[in-house]
Amino acid sequence: MRSVIDIPDLSLDELKELIDVAMDIIANPQKYAEACHGKKLATLFFEPSTRTRMSFEAAMYELGGNVISVTGAGTSSAAKGESMADTAKTVSCYADIIAVRHPKEGSAYVMAQNATIPVINGGDGGHSHPTQTLADLLTIYREKGRFEGLTIGLCGDLKFGRTVHSLIQAMSRYNGNKFVLISPEELKVPSYVKKDVLQQRGIPYEQTTDLEGAMPQLDILYMTRVQRERFFNEEDYLRLKDSYILNMEKLKNAKPDLAILHPLPRVNEISVAVDNDPRACYFKQVLNGKYMRMALILKLLKEAQNEH
Ligand code: NCD
Repeated sequence: MRSVIDIPDLSLDELKELIDVAMDIIANPQKYAEACHGKKLATLFFEPSTRTRMSFEAAMYELGGNVISVTGAGTSSAAKGESMADTAKTVSCYADIIAVRHPKEGSAYVMAQNATIPVINGGDGGHSHPTQTLADLLTIYREKGRFEGLTIGLCGDLKFGRTVHSLIQAMSRYNGNKFVLISPEELKVPSYVKKDVLQQRGIPYEQTTDLEGAMPQLDILYMTRVQRERFFNEEDYLRLKDSYILNMEKLKNAKPDLAILHPLPRVNEISVAVDNDPRACYFKQVLNGKYMRMALILKLLKEAQNEH
């Protein structure tokens, strides 16, 4: 059964296909209004979420399907000690497709191994978050018209930020991109991303602590929140949380066509004044996430049907 746990689960052709379908959904929403009639999406969210869960659910409703859900680790049998494997087998009896978020890295993979329906990873701990990357890709496509030859700055918590890991995975598959990794020393990208992705593929990148110094060369600036819930102690979080705050002053030397992205939620990393700048794309990114999740649900359900 085909699931999407990580970005490499989708080929470049499939990413293009998802973008094309999302663009068609935007142009002709009525064409898709009954596409998932009679199908059920189960959303299992064992970690806080606003956008990811709601966009999956809105996506399924806009495809004419239905949604059943569990929110919060405390309200399902996980709280009684049920394993992910047993939960996967159980939910497979009720639904046609699963979207899952869980604090443990690898949890979505375990669920996919045990489910008999497609599983989509909505974020597994500090590891990956492929559907946020789909939202990011559609945003980059709509803002820049291309995935190649871009200088991409990623700023903030690059260590625990799962959206960062998945976006680097994705954008390093296209030609001519360069990464500028902007973070405090303690929050640099993990070595499995640096070594196994960037270095292995020979992708140019630089690491810096200086956001303003990096600014003039950037085509995309991807801001992130310091991931409080992944810290071992609160003191470190408090010391690092305001390392970067993007404001209009810091954008002084930015390109006029810079695209500013953020997976949200924002805490303090972008001052509200930046929201009115035409380069701010983070709320468009939210909407793009819904369209890409619609495209992904459609694709996986179609493939599952063909398997039967
Ligand atoms: C992100 C996540 O959950 O990793 N949020 C999201 O899904 N849009 C980013 C974050 O929580 O900082």
